[in-house]
Amino acid sequence: MAIKHSLLALASLISIGQCLPFSVASSTPTIPLDEDSNTGPSPLPSPASTLKLKYIGVHLGTQNYTCNSTTGTYFSPGALAQIFDATEYLTAHPNEIDSISQTYLDHYTALPCSESSSDCIESDDRCEDQANARTDHPLPVLGEHYFTSSGTPTFDLYNGRGHPFLYGKKLGDIPAPSSSDVDWLYLVSNGSAANHIISTVYRIETAGGVQPDSCTGSGSITVPYAGQYWYYG
Ligand SMILES: *[C@@H]1O[C@H](CO)[C@@H](O)[C@H](O)[C@H]1NC(C)=O
Ligand SMILES: *[C@@H]1O[C@H](CO)[C@@H](O)[C@H](O)[C@H]1NC(C)=O
Ligand SMILES: *[C@@H]1O[C@H](CO)[C@@H](O)[C@H](O)[C@H]1NC(C)=O
Repeated sequence: MAIKHSLLALASLISIGQCLPFSVASSTPTIPLDEDSNTGPSPLPSPASTLKLKYIGVHLGTQNYTCNSTTGTYFSPGALAQIFDATEYLTAHPNEIDSISQTYLDHYTALPCSESSSDCIESDDRCEDQANARTDHPLPVLGEHYFTSSGTPTFDLYNGRGHPFLYGKKLGDIPAPSSSDVDWLYLVSNGSAANHIISTVYRIETAGGVQPDSCTGSGSITVPYAGQYWYYG
């Protein structure tokens, strides 16, 4: 009898839940992959149904390019970015998913410090934090995005609960809707045992970060960019 009663209670709870106008699940924003044509040799797959959205990060920083003097073109972007936690903000304001990257990039490039980025993560962060402070709704710092010396894209969400961490590898890559913005990407775990809590990340809604068409010599440049990184685990 007790079991039957609790099953009945559970059933009525479920039916109440279905009548509520807003359930928690329906407020989780949907990743807007349909805003890009998402075709070509390595389109971005939809997130697997077994994955949960853990964070939406706004990344602000620089893409790093080195000139190949033989071909006269830039290659192999590394990147260095401060990650701000936009999960709550964009869940409450999904209409800003389309514009927040550009807003961050505009505040950043208006600052003289964005023109003299260094190889020092700490000193560059101060510039990105200043840009964040100038927005109408500064976001908390979530972590850091960088490339290891062997070229592995790394996502260190040191302020996230349980310290989510991911050494990634890129599986999907499509041009952004505008050629002035870096590609949209899909990355998964590179299999490292150090990876923790997050396993998949999409880079979407990018702003800036594109290298010039040609170059001479073998120098490196940094190009300011912003983007949204949707972290699943
Ligand atoms: C530059 O490009 C040439 C021709 O594609 C290639 O063989 C060479 O490895 C490249 N150099 C670097 C440093 O990537
Ligand atoms: C850019 O790349 C060059 C060459 O790999 C490297 O020496 C430099 O540290 C990088 N800078 C940043 C800001 O990532
Ligand atoms: C993943 O990337 C890290 C950092 O570059 C590297 O140490 C590791 O060997 C890579 N792959 C695996 C399977 O751990």
